[in-house]
Parts: sequence; C-alpha cells; structure tokens
Amino acid sequence: MGLDFVEEEVARGYSMPKKIINLFNLEELFEKNLPSPIAGYYKSGARDEITLKKNREIFNKYELLPKLLRDVSNIDTSVKVLGQNLKNPIILAPVAMQQMAHEDGEIASAKGASSFGSAMTLSTSSNYSIEEVAGHNENLFFQLYFAKDRSITENMLKKTKEFGYKAIVFTADAPQLGTRERDERNNFKMPDHLSLGNFKGTILEKFDDRDGSAMNMHNEVLFDKSLTFEIIPWIKAVSGLPVLVKGILRPDDASLCFKHEADGVIISNHGGRQLDTATPTLNQIETIRKEIGKDKLLIVDGGIRRGTDIFKCIALGADAVQIGRPVLWGLNYKGKEGVELVLDILLKEFIETMILTGCRNLNEITRDLIREA
Ligand code: FNR
Ligand code: LAC
Repeated sequence: MGLDFVEEEVARGYSMPKKIINLFNLEELFEKNLPSPIAGYYKSGARDEITLKKNREIFNKYELLPKLLRDVSNIDTSVKVLGQNLKNPIILAPVAMQQMAHEDGEIASAKGASSFGSAMTLSTSSNYSIEEVAGHNENLFFQLYFAKDRSITENMLKKTKEFGYKAIVFTADAPQLGTRERDERNNFKMPDHLSLGNFKGTILEKFDDRDGSAMNMHNEVLFDKSLTFEIIPWIKAVSGLPVLVKGILRPDDASLCFKHEADGVIISNHGGRQLDTATPTLNQIETIRKEIGKDKLLIVDGGIRRGTDIFKCIALGADAVQIGRPVLWGLNYKGKEGVELVLDILLKEFIETMILTGCRNLNEITRDLIREA
C-alpha cells in the first residue's frame, strides 16, 4: 500500500517538498514552476550531458577523514580573494538572463549575495546592466564575453571600474556556445519582453525567432573566435582591473594564463554546457594547483551543491568555489530571499563539515582530510 500511495501522491502533484532542507528541494520546485523551455535552458548540459552528470558524481570519488578533538567552538570561513577579505569562499558564478527566473533578476542575486558577504559575478548576457547592478553588492565581478565588435567590448570594460566592479572574469571556454539539444528542440529564445541590459540599443539586445536555439545564433554574432592568450593584458589595460580566466581545465593552460598576466584562474567546464565529455572539474584541482604553485588564485565551479563539496574543492587546492544553477533555484523561489536561502543552506552545511572534520579555518582544510574512495 505504501508505494502505491506515494505514486498516487506524485501523480496528483503532491511530491513537492513541504519543507526546504537542501538545495535539491529548491531544484525540484524550480523545475515545476518554470515554463519547460526556460527550465530546459537553465538546466541543460551540452549534447548527452555526460559532463553535467559527472560534475556531480565525482564528489563521491572522495571520502573524508575527519580529525577529532580540535576545539571547533569557533569557525572562521573567511578567505582573501584579490586582496579583499570575503566572509566565505562561495562566489556567485556568472549566469545569463536571470530575469527569466525572477523579475528582480541579477539585482536580487547581487543583494542576496551581499547579505552573506559573498561576491557576485554579473554575466555579459545579463538582463540588468552593469550600471543597474552596480552598488548592490560590495564585491561585484564582471564576466566578459568578448564581442567581435571590439568597440562593444571596450565600452563594457571601461564602465566596470567606474561602477565599482572589482575584477573581470574572462570566459575563455566559449569561442562558440556548446549545443544544448533541448534548446534546439524547443527553439529556445529569451522572452520578447526581456532584453540584454548591456546591449541596449544594439542588434544584440533581443533574440530573433529561429528554428533551433536563438541563444546559439545570438552568440554566433557576439563571440570572437580569434582570441588567444595575448588578449589578457589588453583586457587588464582597458578595464584597469584584475583579470580571472574562466573555463580552465589543463595545467598548461593555467600556466599560460599567469604568463600572460592573469590574476587568477577559474577551473570550470561551464557547468557541463560547452564540450560534452570534458573532464569533471574536481578532477583537475590538484594537478592545476601543483602546476601554478600555492600562492596563485584558484577558483573552481561545477556541480557544487553540498557543504562537503565545497570542503573537498578546498582540500584539493581551491581557494574559493562558485555556484551557478543553485542561484537560479533560489531566485525563482523568492528573489533576493531565495538567494539568501541558498547561501544559508550551503554555508550551514559547510560549517557543519568544518566542525565535524576539526577545521577551524580554511587553512586547516588540508589534503590529508580526504582520500580517494
Ligand atoms: C551559465 N554559465 C555562464 N558562464 C559564463 O561565463 N557566462 C555566462 O553568461 C553563463 N551563463 C550561464 C547560464 C546558465 C543557465 C548556466 C547554468 C550556466 C556557467 C556558470 O558560470 C558556471 O560555470 C556553471 O553554472 C557552474 O556549474 P553549476 O554550479 O551550475 O553546476
Ligand atoms: C550559457 C552561456 C550564456 O551557458 O554562457 O548559456
């Protein structure tokens, strides 16, 4: 009788979690709440979504080896990033078009992150513009998609410092957008009532109707495929800000970034949305840290949903982590408060992990606390 009862409940739509305990509960609500082409765009990975799945599965490859009796009555989660003291190591990754999830979009994300002292990265392809999001968080980064029309890129970059942004996150893994087959099937496009805030008044402000993903078409016009590492000093010079290169998966590429004056690298496979079967990010942290040395800034994203995930990234050598999709889940649930809820859940889980492993601060999260299963 028990199982039949559960199936009947699900069929009647009663499977929604009544109490939100973890991020997966928010994900479930999000999937039910949004029109399927929009939820489809947000959740998709490229092609067979192998990398998307592996980004999560890989966390189970590592087990924790807790230290006991270490006086864990005071826990400090703060970390220094680019000279700023952040209260915790969780950064909001750049995620495009957040008004599809909630009308307050990127402004709510910036404010929600600010409540927890978390840094927030604004996507080039945001709905709210650089100017509109400015001032809503004391640690804003701007993610750069480098437009073929260099005057567009220059205009965006020149504004960032003036409006208080602290760094440029240059996304290097997207000379073109990976194919998300769901978007092709759904002819996904950004709804007409929305626009891309940083492209107001240009042909890139809206999406055209087309057979297939309008996002891919849009980015075909936007993205410059001719870029090489030599562009990094140019981005630094024009913006006057430190540059972090996002999308790195290889130690040699990480080294090349620093040789070309980068201030940090972000290990990422774009949440499994670019090159399917690319390696999951957790796999690469240790080898990249070894290559670049202990002092260089190393951030990682992909599949981070639990406090233990954050802990494992740091134990393998990351300074900080980023979350992508969970921001959308929170945003859709309750705007700014929903983003706060996401950070609250994750931070509580992370602190719990620190307490139970005997770590009082991030420096104490060392490699010996995890082992390969
Ligand atoms: C992204 N990501 C992304 N990255 C970027 O550099 N610029 C962007 O505009 C976007 N847009 C975007 C939209 C959506 C819907 C998603 C899901 C992701 C990638 C993002 O910054 C990050 O690398 C991943 O989302 C991290 O993985 P998780 O946390 O989503 O698993
Ligand atoms: C995406 C782009 C916009 O992943 O980065 O959809």
